Amino acid sequence: MKAVEIKAFGGPEMLELCQRPRPILSPGQILIKVAYAGVNRPDLLQRKGNYPVPEDANDLPGLEVSGEVIKTGNAVKNWRIGDRVCALCHGGGYSEYVAVDEGHVMPVPAGFDMAQAACLPETYITVWGNLFMRGHLKKAERVLIHGGASGIGTTAIQLARQAGAEIYATAGDDARCRYVEKLGARACFNYKSEDFEKRLAAETDGEGVDVILDMVAGGYLEAHIRALRADGRLVIIAVQGGIKDTLALNNVMRKRLTITGSTLRPQSSAAKSVIIQDMQNHIWDWLETGKVKPVIQEVFALKDAAKAHTALEAGQHIGKFVLHVTDV
Ligand SMILES: NC(=O)c1ccc[n+]([C@@H]2O[C@H](COP(=O)([O-])OP(=O)(O)OC[C@H]3O[C@@H](n4cnc5c(N)ncnc54)[C@H](OP(=O)(O)O)[C@@H]3O)[C@@H](O)[C@H]2O)c1
Repeated sequence: MKAVEIKAFGGPEMLELCQRPRPILSPGQILIKVAYAGVNRPDLLQRKGNYPVPEDANDLPGLEVSGEVIKTGNAVKNWRIGDRVCALCHGGGYSEYVAVDEGHVMPVPAGFDMAQAACLPETYITVWGNLFMRGHLKKAERVLIHGGASGIGTTAIQLARQAGAEIYATAGDDARCRYVEKLGARACFNYKSEDFEKRLAAETDGEGVDVILDMVAGGYLEAHIRALRADGRLVIIAVQGGIKDTLALNNVMRKRLTITGSTLRPQSSAAKSVIIQDMQNHIWDWLETGKVKPVIQEVFALKDAAKAHTALEAGQHIGKFVLHVTDV
């Protein structure tokens, strides 16, 4: 089969089209003929050598796909050959065929095309697992979502809006801030030209927010602790600002704060299945009634995966990049 591999750690030019054997199925897995594969920032980190591939994972990049089931393992109960699905992959999404655990597969939501379906798994599962299962965001609470124009951010804003939260966000330029406000944020702050903490305090009468979805971490910690209301939750999903910071611990006690976070990939197959099931139970209706949908910046051919990485790295996008692999 055709696939894109990482020749050596480095820039986008390290992504190269190659030939690999088709994956071998375990009894609890299905084989998917891939239509589209979502591109995520963790793929960039893996390419650079900053996101170690778990020992049991496929070394090819790609964490989410859409496609058609073409084979099922002996123990598979819920899927049949010909089903149109999307799935969270343990690597290997940038290829014509990928084997995935049965519990990591979802149907293509009604009304979705295959490119949109490929944007769901990694992004929506990350947001659901962190903003709602860890951050316990509830109706009428206030939330700050960094990277509001990113794949993760555009998803988090739409889900938080449906959940009835009051949303604040950040983005790196004014045009994308205005887009993020149209998507559902009450106010979006340009973190490059203004102090988001001051703006947030002004917008919330100095009260701050209940939950922060944090993809920056280092450099923002003290501001986040100040910006959280009593019983607030800080949920860290990436450390683009660095892995170290300092904080006055008495503020954590005084405001009874929770600092949590997670990375999806290293979690056990069973733990991922639990998040996927919980997400489906809560948001499927929103997807199928068009209340929430992936925002796609551009679709590239599989052979142009390097161009997709270059575009994601440039940081001028809104939403997701997707690779077209095959027509199914
Ligand atoms: N924990 C997990 O399991 C998990 C899973 C998937 C993704 N992630 C992480 O989630 C983040 C978003 O992923 P993605 O695939 O959607 O990538 P993406 O589109 O490249 O998003 C990265 C975002 O970070 C924002 N950003 C960077 N520095 C910032 C700063 N100092 N202040 C505020 N915002 C800043 C960027 O904003 P501008 O472009 O507007 O400047 C951009 O929107 C990535 O960091 C990724 O590693 C975590």
